[in-house]
Amino acid sequence: MTKIIEIKDATVFRGDTRVFRNFNLEIESGQSTAILGPNGAGKTTLLKLLSCELYPVVQAGSCVRVLGRERWNVWDLRNHLGIISNDLQNEYLGYVAGKDVILSGFYSSIGTYGHQSFSGEQRARVTKTLRDLGIHDLRDKPYAAMSTGQQRRFLLGRALVNEPENLILDEPTSGLDLKATFQYLETVRKLLRGDHTVILVTHHVHEIPPEIERVVLMDRGKVVSQGAKSEILNDESLSDLFDTPIRLVDANGYYQVLPG
Ligand SMILES: Nc1ncnc2c1ncn2[C@@H]1O[C@H](COP(=O)(O)OP(=O)(O)O)[C@@H](O)[C@H]1O
Ligand SMILES: [Mg+2]
Repeated sequence: MTKIIEIKDATVFRGDTRVFRNFNLEIESGQSTAILGPNGAGKTTLLKLLSCELYPVVQAGSCVRVLGRERWNVWDLRNHLGIISNDLQNEYLGYVAGKDVILSGFYSSIGTYGHQSFSGEQRARVTKTLRDLGIHDLRDKPYAAMSTGQQRRFLLGRALVNEPENLILDEPTSGLDLKATFQYLETVRKLLRGDHTVILVTHHVHEIPPEIERVVLMDRGKVVSQGAKSEILNDESLSDLFDTPIRLVDANGYYQVLPG
C-alpha cells in the first residue's frame, strides 16, 4: 500500500537551527492521523518538508517520499494532497474576491492572474465547492473583509477544488470562535466520512475529530510515540509531552484537557 508520508533519517535545518536529526515517520494511505506536539516540536517544519518548501540535507539512506514519490511538482501534488497552512492564511491577498480564492487553487497561486485561463468545468467546480462549504453567498466578498473563520473555509475550498484524496491541516481551528470552530470541525468530519484521509497537525487536543483514530506525538524534533489514539492519549503522555500536569477528558469522541 502507498504511504502518504515516508520519511527516513531526514536531517533538516532552518537557518542555522537543526530541527530534525535522523527524523523518521511513516503514515499509510487511508490512515487519518493527528500529529500533536507543543510549540517548537517541529510541526510546521514537517509541513514545509511535505509541501517541498524545505528539503532535507542530502545523505545516504535518507529520503522524504510523499505518496511514494521523492520528486513532485506542486501542480501534480495538489491534485493528491491539499495543504492548508496558517502561513497561507496570513499571506493571502486581501483584495481577492472569495470565488477567486477558490479558483486560485487550480494554479496553487495567491490570487488569479490575467495569463491564467480557466475552463467552464473548472468554474463549475468552484461553484460546487462554494455550495458544498456553505460559502456561496460570500463569493464576491474580498478576502480581507472576511472573518478568520470565513477565510479558513475559502482556503479549504481552494485546496478541495483540486479534489485531492488527502488533506493536511495545520491547526485548523486556531483563531476561530466557538461557532466557527464547530462548523469547521463538522466540515472536516464530513470529509473524513467521505473517504478523505486527513493529517491534522496541532497542539490543540480538542481539534481532533472522533474519526481520527491514530496519533503521533512529537517533541523537540522527534516522534516520541505513535499508535491508536485511545492507547496513546492519556494524562501521563500529555503531561510529559506538554511538560505540565494535564488531565484528559473524553466527551462524545472528542477530547478536552484540563490542568492536572
Ligand atoms: N526560520 C527559522 N530559522 C531558524 N529556526 C527556526 C525557524 N523556524 C523555526 N525554527 C526553529 O525550529 C524549531 C521547530 O519549529 P516549528 O517547526 O515552527 O515548530 P512547531 O510548528 O511545532 O511549533 C523551533 O525550535 C524553532 O525555533
Ligand atoms: Mg507551527
